[in-house]
Amino acid sequence: MKVSRLGYLSFTSVDLPGWRRFGTGVIGAMDVPGTEGDVRLKIDEHPFRIRVEAGDADRLSGIGWELASRADHDALYERLNGLGLKLRDGDAAGAAKRCVADYFATEDPAGNIIEFYCERTGCGDPFRSPAGVRGFVTGEMGLGHVVVPAAGALEETHDFYRSVLGFGASDDLTIALPIEGVPPMRVLFMHADNPRHHSLALFSKPSPTGIVHLMLELEDVDEVGRCLDRVGAHGLGLMATLGRHCNDNMLSFYVNGPAGVAVEIGCEGLQLDWTRFEPTVSSVADHWGHAYRQLADGP
Ligand SMILES: [Fe+2]
Repeated sequence: MKVSRLGYLSFTSVDLPGWRRFGTGVIGAMDVPGTEGDVRLKIDEHPFRIRVEAGDADRLSGIGWELASRADHDALYERLNGLGLKLRDGDAAGAAKRCVADYFATEDPAGNIIEFYCERTGCGDPFRSPAGVRGFVTGEMGLGHVVVPAAGALEETHDFYRSVLGFGASDDLTIALPIEGVPPMRVLFMHADNPRHHSLALFSKPSPTGIVHLMLELEDVDEVGRCLDRVGAHGLGLMATLGRHCNDNMLSFYVNGPAGVAVEIGCEGLQLDWTRFEPTVSSVADHWGHAYRQLADGP
């Protein structure tokens, strides 16, 4: 049993209009109104990939992982239950919000909320970007990737994803910071059961929003450049300038999205055959670029 792909991300926010502006105007996603005023951002044939509901804080509130079949879904439920994890069964209202047939939720050892489903509902409507984006690289590789904090529980959480959920190690990156007294940052990258170099990474430091960044992949460098133009037109700041990562070869930049949620917009990410792959250990994050504006806050 392996998790197939990243299906959706859920957030709470005090600034739904900000998410709507950012989602449509900068990312180029469609705003598909939710039943309770939620912001639902659609970037492909799925009903949406990002859902933001009103809340009293800006936080990542759930990471939706897709399983290949009902049998995998049920087997995972039993496995987690057997390990003594507290599982929350999804109800009909929750499933409707997420556009899944059903789901259950739990927390990883670092406290990140993770949800599992095997069937998305409401798929099939075409994506027509309000900003002229041709399309995002999703499909069998899922929505992109997400990096979450695992401060104080990095190894334990890494082991949980690999031994319990079937993720594979991709890269173990340690970056020394040129700041005296600040320990190195470590990022552990993992792949799900699809060719994307990583669907998930764990970060060694805390993040007040519960997320370090999310990544959406565009079709080519011109699409990335046009998105960079939209960032400028909206007067937004970059968290990291244009650059190319070493481990997944992604050409990307990082923009400060609503409420400090960083979004990486990239292209040309590696797609791998895992039967021929050896996990890497690295100490250099980038071939070039990606100048971080807040080094202590990480990649
Ligand atoms: Fe990334």
